[in-house]
Amino acid sequence: MKLTVHTKGSAYDILMEHGILHHAKDHAGSGHFFLISDDGVPQCWRDILQSQFPESRMHVFSQGEASKNFDTLQAVLGDMLDAGLSRRDTVIALGGGVVGDLSGFAASLYMRGIRYINIPTTMLAMVDSSIGGKTAVDFHGVKNSVGSFWQPSLVLIDPEVLSTLSPRLLHEGLAESVKMGLTHDAKLFELFEQEDYEDHIDEIIERSLRVKQGVVERDERESGERKMLNFGHTYGHAFESYHHMNRFLHGECVALGMMKVIRNRELKDRVKAVLERLELPVSCEYDPEEIVKLVMKDKKADHGEVTFVQVDEPGNGYLVLWREEDIRKGLEI
Ligand SMILES: NC(=O)c1ccc[n+]([C@@H]2O[C@H](COP(=O)([O-])OP(=O)(O)OC[C@H]3O[C@@H](n4cnc5c(N)ncnc54)[C@H](O)[C@@H]3O)[C@@H](O)[C@H]2O)c1
Ligand SMILES: [Zn+2]
Repeated sequence: MKLTVHTKGSAYDILMEHGILHHAKDHAGSGHFFLISDDGVPQCWRDILQSQFPESRMHVFSQGEASKNFDTLQAVLGDMLDAGLSRRDTVIALGGGVVGDLSGFAASLYMRGIRYINIPTTMLAMVDSSIGGKTAVDFHGVKNSVGSFWQPSLVLIDPEVLSTLSPRLLHEGLAESVKMGLTHDAKLFELFEQEDYEDHIDEIIERSLRVKQGVVERDERESGERKMLNFGHTYGHAFESYHHMNRFLHGECVALGMMKVIRNRELKDRVKAVLERLELPVSCEYDPEEIVKLVMKDKKADHGEVTFVQVDEPGNGYLVLWREEDIRKGLEI
């Protein structure tokens, strides 16, 4: 499968194919390369990439969100300079969203910006973070607070690499696909309802990518429609903070957030059934007043109102403005 994402002034391809990791070099273009990964990406996948670029250095940092910071960025940039990388050369990121976000940011800064190729290896990175051009590190305890918009020059997706991913990580990534089905693609949501998702992984990735492609093409800088991708995230981020980012994964909080925001009873039951099949959480204990406070703070309520994404029927997301009492109401149901 090949998708071309059009951005202002340029375009890049997303190629999805089983085994494409083995042929990354054929698509990478010319010049020198600098590879970036983390030590949680199984060695077998790193070796397959490295063997195609024997002359290139691979910078491997410690896995986890805790590495997505200026220290790692500085170490990566230092290593790129030591490797003698020039303005015409290319960074290749192999990993989940942490590797992708940090490598994209490094590429955007190095020599005022060089090419980077993203090879996502988690479900979340394949369906969500690898396209759209948002790059960042966490700073001063605030997630993604320093970053840039920097588009990849190519994205290579090899579903084979998902074979080493834990079911929990696979499912948390799929929560983002369920979200995209609900806001933009009823068929994608129904696929989760009616079929065994394991038999349809390629189709799920492709449909999710098409949703995200459409949204980012229409709204590259998140001034309008891109907000729709925040479905489930407004309560979701509050749950992440409430549980101090350590009890639930991001996608699990999105699942919890979707369950809280949907008001249509029938749809809520359908979504609950899908999330349960994916072993995602559908409820948790919390103090409603704390969650309200976190939502109002996180979203910098504008004149007491917060924008939420709402869905009443699969495939049709829309934006609503909620006041504090609406936000509280969702939590009491
Ligand atoms: N740029 C965007 O638009 C965007 C969108 C959503 C999320 N994000 C960012 O993405 C990050 C989360 O990404 P993530 O969920 O991929 O987390 P992650 O990158 O931390 O990966 C999760 C874990 O899986 C390991 N791993 C990676 N590939 C593997 C494989 N094939 N087999 C086994 N283990 C593997 C990693 O080493 C890591 O330990 C967050 O920092 C978030 O802010 C960015
Ligand atoms: Zn998300």
